[in-house]
Amino acid sequence: MSEGPSKSKIASPETTANRAIAGIILAAGKGARMKSDLPKVLHKVAGLPMLDWVVRCLQAAGIDRQIVVISPAMAAASGREVWRRFSSAVFCIQHTARGTGDAVASVYPALENGGGIKSPSFLDASLFLDEGSPIQPLTPDDLIICAGDTPAISPEELSHFVNECRMGAADIGVLAMRVPDPAGYGRILTNHDGKFAAIVEERDASPDQRKINICNTGVIFAKAAVLFELLDDLRPENSQGEYYLTDCLKIALRKNLNVVVHECAHWNDFLGVNDRSQLAAMEKLLVQRLIGKMMKSGVTFHNPESCHVEADCKVGVDSEIGSGACLEGHTNIGRGCKVGPNVALDDVEVGDGAVIGAGSVVRNYVVNPGEFVPALSMIQ
Ligand code: UD1
Ligand code: CA
Repeated sequence: MSEGPSKSKIASPETTANRAIAGIILAAGKGARMKSDLPKVLHKVAGLPMLDWVVRCLQAAGIDRQIVVISPAMAAASGREVWRRFSSAVFCIQHTARGTGDAVASVYPALENGGGIKSPSFLDASLFLDEGSPIQPLTPDDLIICAGDTPAISPEELSHFVNECRMGAADIGVLAMRVPDPAGYGRILTNHDGKFAAIVEERDASPDQRKINICNTGVIFAKAAVLFELLDDLRPENSQGEYYLTDCLKIALRKNLNVVVHECAHWNDFLGVNDRSQLAAMEKLLVQRLIGKMMKSGVTFHNPESCHVEADCKVGVDSEIGSGACLEGHTNIGRGCKVGPNVALDDVEVGDGAVIGAGSVVRNYVVNPGEFVPALSMIQ
């Protein structure tokens, strides 16, 4: 059985001195390479918008509140209901996309004023969806930042990283990954004694620096008050004229603050989706993960590579899923069922011991326990 990311909590409050943490999800980038009218983070993988995967991951890691940074176009393009789906998330609008540092600064309107957090001088952002029901300002001690277009991100990696940062008394920390092909990522530079020196973006890197394959996953941890001090020192002095979040680490070193670099266990948890071919690769990865979890929990798949399963589907122990089956929406299959080859089920409740014959298409329906649905049935 499976429901998106599995549970893994950050360390108990005793070990983290009751520090409150909030997640920041950056999603205001243009996403131009998708060539789409739909905001990139609302494109679905394995049945769920990318943004939902990231929000669920944070929730599963025990990071109960999230601040999502979106663009004015995204706020305008989709119906408000789209953004209202998340009761745990607050949305901020970054008025102009001026880089990841500016995007993080854009969460300032969601934070408690006067909580010791400094407003960056270049701030140009506002709260979204505040009318009618004013949003309770957040008062996090710590922040964990990730991107909205990395839906494979796992709660285990996140909570482990947060714990490592806290145990190392980090003022700021970066989650690093060793990748087979570093193209496109920010490289993590170290000095001669192997200590962290800076993160350099590919565009700004020398040919030698480009050979480095230890990269920034895009996940950054920081003490909230420290981070906003550092953000205020950012200058858009690089090839793109952007405020780079990654420069905060270099500035932190200069100020003798404690910087932690932690290497993740599985780099493909941090794969990003920028175009339709990466979207397809992500779909494949997440579907195979969902099926893998189901098999571990006692479900037989006759030809797992040929099947499609979405994030909110469940299958009970000792059920058998035939080749080419497609399980969509909130399909919930009981124990000991047989789903024939090339069956498509969408929002279907299947009682224990039921049999769905080959090639059947069933939508919004309840199959009773022990019921037999003949082959090639069409029920919708
Ligand atoms: C970023 C990192 C890079 C890292 C990589 C990991 C910086 C400067 N670079 O590069 O070191 O290896 O992620 O994937 O941080 N966004 C906004 N507003 C903006 C700009 C970006 O919300 O003004 C959002 C994007 O929607 C995206 C995220 O921030 O979700 C990352 O931005 P992107 O432009 O994709 O950064 P990368 O070049 O991938
Ligand atoms: Ca990216």
